[in-house]
Amino acid sequence: MSKQPIGIFDSGVGGTSIWKAIHGLLPTENTIYLADSINAPYGPKGKEAIIALSEKNTEHLLEQNSKLIVVACNTATTNAIGYLREKYNVPFIGIEPAIKPAALQTQTKAIGILATKGTLSSELFNNTSQLYNNGVTIVEQEGEGIVQLIEAGLIYSDQMTELLVNYLKPMIKSNIDYLVLGCTHYPYLIPQLSKILPKHIKIIDSGDAVANQTKLVLEKYNLVNNAKIKSDNFFYTNGKPKVMKTLLNNVYDVKYLKF
Ligand code: SIN
Repeated sequence: MSKQPIGIFDSGVGGTSIWKAIHGLLPTENTIYLADSINAPYGPKGKEAIIALSEKNTEHLLEQNSKLIVVACNTATTNAIGYLREKYNVPFIGIEPAIKPAALQTQTKAIGILATKGTLSSELFNNTSQLYNNGVTIVEQEGEGIVQLIEAGLIYSDQMTELLVNYLKPMIKSNIDYLVLGCTHYPYLIPQLSKILPKHIKIIDSGDAVANQTKLVLEKYNLVNNAKIKSDNFFYTNGKPKVMKTLLNNVYDVKYLKF
């Protein structure tokens, strides 16, 4: 049994969507969440910069004695997880867009993926995409500007609606029946996306798959915390705590931390 925390990092507040799935499945696990909001978005940055930021976040989480690290950012996963796994001696869980379930279940043989430039241009994403594009059209769309608006607390703004309408138009035209959310910030947009998309289009994100994988890896390495007491969950950001607090329904304290 390990009371050490699970460390989770993201380029900002979006990874809290992953934290919610993990905490929902593993409520007795202690967690530390690190939001590198000052450097958000990671999406437009080059691979080297994304690796350097991911390394910095990992070091902070390891200093806090993390037993396992969840890279709660698609862009950081697709660009840096191989490097992190080679360098550090703890298990890492990454987030990859859920292309596989969408490609296997589509009836229209067309699926859409909304993700950052950093994810769509990564080798890992392109390898996955090639595995499942046999007979299935994958309509890719870069979500430029979305992360910045979420980080600024502008989820329900007119600017956001305008971006989403433009980004979804080509997908709807291509007759997709699944929309894959390839960025951990995007699950917070599901209410707006559902209003814009025709009813038959299903939205898939990676939260539950990541939570299940985290559970399996904790079990595999004998790291499960079986204590039947409430867990401790700490949230830190090098940006403004208010947006993250709101996304956590004001239930948890969010502390500013310079890192
Ligand atoms: C970003 O920082 O650009 C988005 C994070 C993600 O890809 O999940």
